[in-house]
Amino acid sequence: MGKVRTLLVCRDCGQQLARWAGRCPGCGGWGTIEERAATEMAAGGVEVTVLVHDGDEDQRVSTGFAGVDRVLGGGLVPGSVALLAGEPGIGKSTLLLHVVANLSAAGLSCLLASGEESRGQVASRARRLGVDGASVSFVPGRELPSVVAAAHTSRPFLLAVDSVQTLRDPDSGQVPGGPAQVRSCADALVGLAKALGIAVVLTGHVTKDGDVAGPRTLEHAVDVVLTFDGDPRSGLRMLTGGKNRFGAEGEVAWLEMTARGLHEIDPSDVLVSNQLEPGAAVALPRAGRRALAVEVQALVAPTQGPPRRHVTGLDPRRFHLVAAVLERASIPVGRADLFGASAGGIRVDDPACDLALAAALASAATERPPPEASAFVGEVGLTGVVRGVAAMPARLSVARAAGIRTVFAAPGTEGIDGVRIVPVHHAKEALTWAGASRRRVERAEGVRSTDLNEQSNGRPEWAKRRSDLGF
Ligand code: TYD
Ligand code: MG
Repeated sequence: MGKVRTLLVCRDCGQQLARWAGRCPGCGGWGTIEERAATEMAAGGVEVTVLVHDGDEDQRVSTGFAGVDRVLGGGLVPGSVALLAGEPGIGKSTLLLHVVANLSAAGLSCLLASGEESRGQVASRARRLGVDGASVSFVPGRELPSVVAAAHTSRPFLLAVDSVQTLRDPDSGQVPGGPAQVRSCADALVGLAKALGIAVVLTGHVTKDGDVAGPRTLEHAVDVVLTFDGDPRSGLRMLTGGKNRFGAEGEVAWLEMTARGLHEIDPSDVLVSNQLEPGAAVALPRAGRRALAVEVQALVAPTQGPPRRHVTGLDPRRFHLVAAVLERASIPVGRADLFGASAGGIRVDDPACDLALAAALASAATERPPPEASAFVGEVGLTGVVRGVAAMPARLSVARAAGIRTVFAAPGTEGIDGVRIVPVHHAKEALTWAGASRRRVERAEGVRSTDLNEQSNGRPEWAKRRSDLGF
């Protein structure tokens, strides 16, 4: 015997849907889709349906953050499950609350289940963010059955669970937060999302080495994995899309954490200072599918002892390689402690940044800043030859937006309106402004600073915008 089948129908226009949606694709009405019993039954109770229905076109709902929508592949998809992963304190709960508030403001019902914080704590955070918490439903999020029951009763557009590790499934005899518990709670929520057509966002803590604490298997259960990243000491945050069943991987959104929560920013505005000091150069790496203008910095501190090398945010192997190439090109960086960093400590591992690292090191060694409003793009080989890189038009347009007017790049690179290319075959040619001054290194008693922050703190102009952000 077959069971009674239900249909999803818009109560306003009668449009039938294959799956639940917040908005009717037929008449555009919000919250008008409801379940109705259908008399038709498939033999043996197994429902067979055509693959593509009329109402199947991709439905996306904006989170209120253009960048977050882009990372999601165009917005939240009803019936999908996203995992928002990040280290404790990075801002997952804050982002979740913003999204819930934005959707509620757009007239979509949201249910927030928090096992991390009490209702009072979430309410006070909402007040601090200046968001209207009155339209958001709340349920304590420690017991899976009560969260599932609340979702069945209130049928929200979005169920936000903070966090999957504090949720407990009493049927799974394990400790909360343990792999089996997390997996069984996630499975139950995936089932709920698919059955009711609810969008679900789960937060999950990751450990230092990037694993979602407990089961990595969670990534297979969900549709989308979002990683929230950044140096917790700075306000800059990066949301990247990993696995995504509904969109392209590798998109990035940039946000800034302020006293009043998160807002979207153009990273180049905060990662490039107006006036470059010696030891800094602008690089144009790719971040996911986009490009970005970011300052890379170097400190060359002459030493009598064994030279040390330390980098933050940069790829150490590329940094060492570039330093060795410079030494061969008579730029004196060999007998010195070398430190390298990217502004904001953001990860910069695109080989296209090699030439900017060379410029920063040469600038630090000779105490001469690179030419005004310039950037450097190119992969540097072992011979010092500069190789062209992909996605130049995207890199040049972010450079122009960041106020760059000259870009040193491999021969054959075409400029764009407002950005001139200086073609360079060899790293040496890109560094002629630095000259081969040995002044700095010959000063045997040069002051040794081992702290990059200390250096930038002493330079208010250089770090003005960044110190506002706390880095
Ligand atoms: P939170 O969202 O609680 O992080 P997570 O859920 O990932 O653990 O954010 C924690 C940090 O963010 C906390 O140290 C305080 C800071 N914060 C702000 O700077 N401004 C704000 O408006 C809010 C709500 C938090
Ligand atoms: Mg939290």
